[in-house]
Amino acid sequence: MKLSSRLDTIKNKVTDHYDHIWDCCCDHGQLGVGLLASHPKSVIHFVDVVDELMIDLESQLQKHASAIQSQWQVHCMDVAKLPLIKGKKNLIIIAGVGGDLLIELVRSIQLRNSDIELEFILCPVLHNYMVRCELIEMGFGLISETLVKENKRFYEVLHISNQAAKPIAPVGNDMWNLSDSDHQEYLNKTVSHYQRMEANPKCTSRVSEQYQELVGK
Ligand SMILES: C[S@@+](CC[C@H](N)C(=O)[O-])C[C@H]1O[C@@H](n2cnc3c(N)ncnc32)[C@H](O)[C@@H]1O
Repeated sequence: MKLSSRLDTIKNKVTDHYDHIWDCCCDHGQLGVGLLASHPKSVIHFVDVVDELMIDLESQLQKHASAIQSQWQVHCMDVAKLPLIKGKKNLIIIAGVGGDLLIELVRSIQLRNSDIELEFILCPVLHNYMVRCELIEMGFGLISETLVKENKRFYEVLHISNQAAKPIAPVGNDMWNLSDSDHQEYLNKTVSHYQRMEANPKCTSRVSEQYQELVGK
């Protein structure tokens, strides 16, 4: 099955070998299924809280198991309690959930696994500025970042690790190509969004100005 441009961007960031790849909040497991073919030497873990989804996914995977060489496991559970495999290389992917929930999940995984290398690919729905600020506060560094447009919506894909030395920028840095009209559109929309929020007299932060400064760079 062909992946959407957002899920394809995430999949293309998985270039290294990982012993375990966790497709968190996987829904029907589209991304993980794509990874089964491209990463036959990894164990692909499908994780979601919804029972029916996981039962259906497990039976689909079993049906096609002969065509799939890789190992896989299905977990019906809260991603906050992810059972990472210590002593092995884990990659955790969380995509398609709101920024607040995404940060809650990353924070919980970090608290439970403070002693190991943590590498994530994250793609929140909205609230990218807040997500980036929280990740900076948690001590993560950047591996790469990409802006992707899908069905007229924009998504930021962040590949981060607690071992990466490169700082994460609150408004993004490497992902911007302001000669691209899509990127200009996303920047304009983001500036307008924060200007509307900052029109509230109770709001003291000036996030829109930080985005506007990108134009002069
Ligand atoms: C919109 S889908 C995202 C699917 C896919 N990751 C994507 O990016 O297209 C969001 C999924 O997150 C799951 N979910 C929400 N909170 C969760 C949690 N705490 N633990 C595990 N799954 C969760 C929901 O059940 C739902 O299937």
